[in-house]
Amino acid sequence: MCSIIGYYGKENASPILVKGLKRMEYRGYDSVGVATESENEIKLKKGIGKVNEVNSKVQLDTLPGKIGIGHTRWATHGRVTELNAHPHPSNSGKIAIVHNGIIENFEELKKELETDGYDFKSETDSEVIVNLLQKNYEITKDVKKTILKTVSEIKGHYAFVAMFENGQLAAARFHEPLIIGVGQDDFFLSSDVLGFIEFTDNAIYLENGNFVIIDKDKFQVLDFDGNNPGYGITKVSKEFGDAYKGDYAHFTLKEIYEQNETILKAGEKAIDAIEKAAENIKDAQNIYVTGSGTSYNSALIAKQILSKYVKIKAEPIMSSELQFSPETIEENSIFIAISQSGESADVLDAVRIAKKANCRIIAIVNLLTSSLAREADIVIGMNCGPEIGVAATKSFTSQLVILYKIVQKISNNEITIDFKEFSKSISKTLDNPTKIQQIAKELKDISDIYILGRGINYPIAKEAALKLKELTYIHAEGIPGGELKHGPLALMDSNVYVIIINPSDSTYSDTLTSAREIKARGAKIIGISDIESNIYDYWIEIPKINEVLYPISEIVPIQLLSYYAALEKETDPDYPRNLAKSVTVK
Ligand code: G6P
Repeated sequence: MCSIIGYYGKENASPILVKGLKRMEYRGYDSVGVATESENEIKLKKGIGKVNEVNSKVQLDTLPGKIGIGHTRWATHGRVTELNAHPHPSNSGKIAIVHNGIIENFEELKKELETDGYDFKSETDSEVIVNLLQKNYEITKDVKKTILKTVSEIKGHYAFVAMFENGQLAAARFHEPLIIGVGQDDFFLSSDVLGFIEFTDNAIYLENGNFVIIDKDKFQVLDFDGNNPGYGITKVSKEFGDAYKGDYAHFTLKEIYEQNETILKAGEKAIDAIEKAAENIKDAQNIYVTGSGTSYNSALIAKQILSKYVKIKAEPIMSSELQFSPETIEENSIFIAISQSGESADVLDAVRIAKKANCRIIAIVNLLTSSLAREADIVIGMNCGPEIGVAATKSFTSQLVILYKIVQKISNNEITIDFKEFSKSISKTLDNPTKIQQIAKELKDISDIYILGRGINYPIAKEAALKLKELTYIHAEGIPGGELKHGPLALMDSNVYVIIINPSDSTYSDTLTSAREIKARGAKIIGISDIESNIYDYWIEIPKINEVLYPISEIVPIQLLSYYAALEKETDPDYPRNLAKSVTVK
């Protein structure tokens, strides 16, 4: 996915756009570009690389003009090249566009435009939109009519900002985020409030199928039929602008270290919503839990704790898979959607399928202004502050705490958890990273790592593998302990490292046996446990605690290990190659 941004105001646009893009870089970061309007002319610069790299090469922030657009890209249509980077000018050079999303009928439209004499310089679908805008503007001579005609012709999921040579900005939203920031003397258009939070906290969350035209210091919001749909201004929490690394080398490290606090804050402002969710779950015939990536691993844990502690059956569903079996969703069920961003396209699609089956939607989400939060009947905020590192860390542990709190409520508080004490034990792990740093050095040159866990520790093995993959690019795989003999044992030899997740719960002795079997094949064993054992070549100690909390205690050292191994391998932990923080396209 990409981030798009626009500025219309009294200040020089380009430095403001560059700043906003830097803050939204988590959305995509393979190339970047800015275009401004000055003296009725569009000027444009772009390049491959991160915002700071490209800016120091071509000085994006020196483009003149008080109106402009910008973009950071996460390639979908076309390779990572300068020509494919946004903004894209139309053939006449009189319109430029930045776009996030996918145009499904771009090939058809491209052919028609080529027949009309348009030529294309990039491999992107976005260049089709800008030339279609030019064609329609030449016919209608009016920005509003041009947008209405263009959105009626394009199919897909998109948000775009178009800048016209006469200094008008127009932006449309269809299933991709687009927010208007309303300042004192200026307007912002952005994929995320982080793009403008430094300048204003007044935001208009443009509804799906709406567009905005900004001209002569005024703006007008319209729907795709040309009617006035109305809009509301939301005061955005300034806290979400608080996305600085502070003294930490990377956002990922900062976010890992915040967890002793964020686990205390999780769901803190949503006590009523947690209670309501618990009541709904208790009364439901069928319960589904969905998510993508890390959030799906939380869904797997939700299934385990609901059945173990309150004897409630819940079915975890990988969001991207639901479209192939929508009939599995029973009418009038409870559908729990977990998502940090609340913008993952797969999760939103799954929610739409559930809504069609008349399900009640419970959202566990960090961004309360996200599309998911707005689609849900009950919203539980993770309350962990902005998570910028692409690999999810603190949002995962916050999701787990919220799930625990729901289970506690269902049990009428029979399950007691001392979160304050637990937070202290997490601080202890975080304060002693030396051993983990040493193990990270060992991982520098390996190509495969396996993580083994049983029962509730298996989803943690999967999450551990995900962290290691995302941050270090080492091939990593979570293995359910009992399956070792049914295949994975064939992979074990002296080149392999295996992390054994082995807390002293009911899985302990079986997992220790697996560790022995693996060690006998020469593999190196990293044991994560509250009990030391000579089977482990390296022992990462976790505290002996209430067993419901083991999953969080286990994942925190693995997050650290992945981070430090990334440093050893000299990858960028905040922005892993080819990935993006919130995948708003399918
Ligand atoms: C992307 C990110 C993952 C994240 C997943 C789900 O794939 O790279 O880190 O777990 O999206 O994101 P969500 O915002 O829905 O939790």
